[in-house]
Amino acid sequence: MTVPDLQRYKEDTKKIVAVTAYDALFARIVEQAGIETILVGDSLGMVVQGKPTTLSVTMSAMLYHTRLVARAVRQSLVIGDMPFMSYQISKEEALRNAGRLLQAGAHAVKLEGGAVVADRVEAMTNIGIPVIGHLGMTPQAVHQYGGYKVRGKDQHQAEQLIADAKILEQAGARAIVLEAIPARLAKIITEQLTIPTIGIGAGPHCDGQVLVLYDLLGLFEDFVPKFVKPYARLRADALHALQRYKKEVEHGIFPGSSESYT
Ligand code: KIV
Repeated sequence: MTVPDLQRYKEDTKKIVAVTAYDALFARIVEQAGIETILVGDSLGMVVQGKPTTLSVTMSAMLYHTRLVARAVRQSLVIGDMPFMSYQISKEEALRNAGRLLQAGAHAVKLEGGAVVADRVEAMTNIGIPVIGHLGMTPQAVHQYGGYKVRGKDQHQAEQLIADAKILEQAGARAIVLEAIPARLAKIITEQLTIPTIGIGAGPHCDGQVLVLYDLLGLFEDFVPKFVKPYARLRADALHALQRYKKEVEHGIFPGSSESYT
């Protein structure tokens, strides 16, 4: 999977299937499952680091996890997420940090926002760094919204999102993630753009879908948004396994003869 393939998928009306991954083990499982687009999301702040928001995720954490994922996969497209304050201060800083993510092994970077980041998107595109936009409920603006709330429900917000999507496309974005917006609005944006949209809580009409891996696997249950469908219950399985292990050690059942050397 390459960056130009994203466009080809839209033209061929083939769905883009994406998921997050933060380490080599899961990146390999994702690739083995045939999912060819991997986002090293700053959601790792919440699901890996146990923080309440993504705001304190650092560039060095993103570089570390991007390296782990990029090293593990063979043919997947790896998108590195730009953390809060890595691209907001200046265009120069944004370019430098985007470049560092590519040097860590990402094939493209993702950043949040519309018109306000268009100059960054354009500058990165001009020097050969592919950019994925991110609109709707952008988690780095959580305090601005007063919580993780659906965006684009009223006319003004909806029009703003459509305008932002067009601006990002014009600036050179290669795809746009649409998060937590009404399905009908996502459909309009998807139809009006030539670049693909990748939805998360944006209904079925986007050109692709992305989910946070630990949500999809039922590992992270602290906060489960409406748009998440858990395809497994790995947290419950892990809990059960660990409880059995504890009991067996306590009762002298583990290790048995088959786990012991003669
Ligand atoms: O950080 C992340 O995982 C994301 C997805 C929710 C799109 O940005």
